[in-house]
Amino acid sequence: MTNTRAYGYTDTLEAEHYDRALRADISDGLSRTPKSTAPTWFYDARGSELFEEITQLPEYPLWRAELGLLQLHSRDIATRTGARSLVELGSGSSTKTKLIIEALGPTGLHYVPVDVSADALHQAGAQLVRDYPGIHLHALRTDFTAPLVLPELPEAGPRLVAFLGSTLGNFRRPARGPFLRGLRDILRPQDFLLIGADLVKDEQEMIAAYDDAQGVTAEFDKHLLYVLNRELDADFDPDAFEHVAVWNATESHIEMRLRSRAEQLVKIRELDLAVQFERGEEWITERSAKFTTEGLREEMAGAGLRTEQLWADSEAGFALMLATAG
Ligand code: AVJ
Repeated sequence: MTNTRAYGYTDTLEAEHYDRALRADISDGLSRTPKSTAPTWFYDARGSELFEEITQLPEYPLWRAELGLLQLHSRDIATRTGARSLVELGSGSSTKTKLIIEALGPTGLHYVPVDVSADALHQAGAQLVRDYPGIHLHALRTDFTAPLVLPELPEAGPRLVAFLGSTLGNFRRPARGPFLRGLRDILRPQDFLLIGADLVKDEQEMIAAYDDAQGVTAEFDKHLLYVLNRELDADFDPDAFEHVAVWNATESHIEMRLRSRAEQLVKIRELDLAVQFERGEEWITERSAKFTTEGLREEMAGAGLRTEQLWADSEAGFALMLATAG
């Protein structure tokens, strides 16, 4: 971060806040039946790297489908929105954002990547200021499950808020309404929201996307145990769990689960907690909702968002929706 004018950085997850949220989620989540925790904790440097690997897997077409749609339509998105600020939630490596940035015109553009991973923000940020010397970059490290407070942006020019990769699917149905309403509340009348959503498709295909042959997703899932061992002084044995992916048709989501291979008692010293796992007990580590275009359109409408345009890749089963605070 040599050029502080071109590259601002705000961290709302000061160690204490992150720690408190982690502790609360893990102690609540592992005391519940079934055990169920937030997917937020996967994304340290190694976790983000593993997710990047997942995006390249043949079984995980979401990422490529969305890239393809952006390659086809980013010009159109730029023309329709005329955005001069781009806010991206869950920006990760920002690879796809580059397409939007280039379509909008990088020089003088205000780009606000928002992510929970400081490492992902720094890596992507350094790359972006190198590639686009004229861009104004303001990285924001936050947990966007909390209400979003944007850094100061110029009043002039429409803003585009992008939430790509079907990360919306990490929210369960009842939580999506308030979350989408929160996004609507930061949109001014001239602003736009762009959402990428993975669509319901063949069950075996959906499951394979979360249980690949190479075992990268299994490694990603078990990575949570390393994070908890390190952050909370726990003694999870990753070999004592196996990764499973299950389609939950009632809730229309894939569940990643860690199944305990044996009856075991795991100590989490920082929480002063001993957690009992039965043999075969399954702990839900992530939910990834799959949408229908009509369902999502309705959910958005319910949150006061009017869908202006929908682009879908019907073969891969993925959709991009552009909406306003209608
Ligand atoms: C980044 C949340 C969209 O749910 O598909 C990929 C994360 N987890 N494989 C998803 C993930 C397992 C991904 N999101």
